[in-house]
Amino acid sequence: MSLRRVKSFGQDRLDNWRNMLISEDNLKALRALIQEPNVKGKVRLIYIDPPFATNQEFKHGGLRTSTVSYSPEDEMAYNDRLVGAEYIEFLRERIVLLREILSDDGSIYVHIDWKMGHYVKVLMDEIFGQERFVNDITRIKCNPKNFERKGYGNIKDIVLFYSKTNQYVWNEPREEMTEEDIRRLFPKVDEKGRRYTTTPLHAPGETKNGPTGKLWKGLKPPKGRHWRYPPDELDRLNAQCLIEWSSTGNPRKKIYADEVLAKGKKRQDIWEFKDPPYPTYPTEKNLEMLEMLIEASSNPDDLVLDCFAGSGTTLVAAEATRRRWIGIDDSKVAIEVCQKRLNSVSNISAFDLYLLKEEKEKSLVESISEKNYRYHKKPRKAKSLG
Ligand SMILES: C[S@@+](CC[C@H](N)C(=O)[O-])C[C@H]1O[C@@H](n2cnc3c(N)ncnc32)[C@H](O)[C@@H]1O
Repeated sequence: MSLRRVKSFGQDRLDNWRNMLISEDNLKALRALIQEPNVKGKVRLIYIDPPFATNQEFKHGGLRTSTVSYSPEDEMAYNDRLVGAEYIEFLRERIVLLREILSDDGSIYVHIDWKMGHYVKVLMDEIFGQERFVNDITRIKCNPKNFERKGYGNIKDIVLFYSKTNQYVWNEPREEMTEEDIRRLFPKVDEKGRRYTTTPLHAPGETKNGPTGKLWKGLKPPKGRHWRYPPDELDRLNAQCLIEWSSTGNPRKKIYADEVLAKGKKRQDIWEFKDPPYPTYPTEKNLEMLEMLIEASSNPDDLVLDCFAGSGTTLVAAEATRRRWIGIDDSKVAIEVCQKRLNSVSNISAFDLYLLKEEKEKSLVESISEKNYRYHKKPRKAKSLG
């Protein structure tokens, strides 16, 4: 293996796996990892939050970490100077390798901003296939802005979610219902004071011969529709007072808030996870968002990878949700912040800091990694997108 272990931290895991923090350019690191049989095709979840082609420098200044307010003596965390087609090509090379590293039932989330998001969507469609596109998530990242600008305020960025195949790990994430949700979704109150709503007992499509097309209590389902339940189930619901009859004799099923409450509501594709107001690193993302998506798209002990690790939010979230992890970043500041953050987690599982051994890049690795990629001819020369 062309990775050199330089430091070790944390407590050994029962399975002897050691998490990995790699201080290196991620293209080189991914090429090394792809040769590892316990990594290639074994990563269940990838989250990346690459630079967004902002043509800016991101500084890190001890107590104050910001893109807008830094002083000349602040340390450079990373620069984001690649733009246009060169930027897309930079991502393309890495995402092709990431697809190889992903397990067949794995998923990838790419965090990107509103300016580059549409180009990256096309790139992801090319590499993963349009049919593997699962969601384009709008992430509300900050409070409304009142900057002088001839245009609407920007409070969102984008998270593109793709799976490698159609058999991917999915643990339905649910959201807690708020008081307001309950009042809005369950507007009725029964004689015992329980909040409820009603839903139709019939659904689109006529049943020609089956029981759900039959008369029930002298009623046929409306034209073009069928009963949601066979007559004996409708009888059971009615006997349990779970059917409400309107004044015109239309039956509807009662759904009680207290029964749905424990389950929570299905999470939608607009997320509000604002970034920390006092980050330890510029562009540090919201830890709860990472925990939520890791739990949705992987299982305990699965391997999670972030090759633009920054301050290690993904790694800390993976640790908190009992996943194994690999983090890569080529910024010394990022690696230092990562180590500090990880070591402040109590009982952190064993992890090693790696540097890459200087080795000639293997053309063989490149050819393997490109084999599933449909448009694998690289443009000869990067052109500007604009
Ligand atoms: C937007 S930040 C990630 C922030 C991270 N999600 C967090 O919560 O702290 C992007 C990171 O990508 C790293 N990066 C950029 N190009 C890289 C490359 N070629 N190899 C490895 N890391 C890279 C930068 O150093 C930076 O830390």
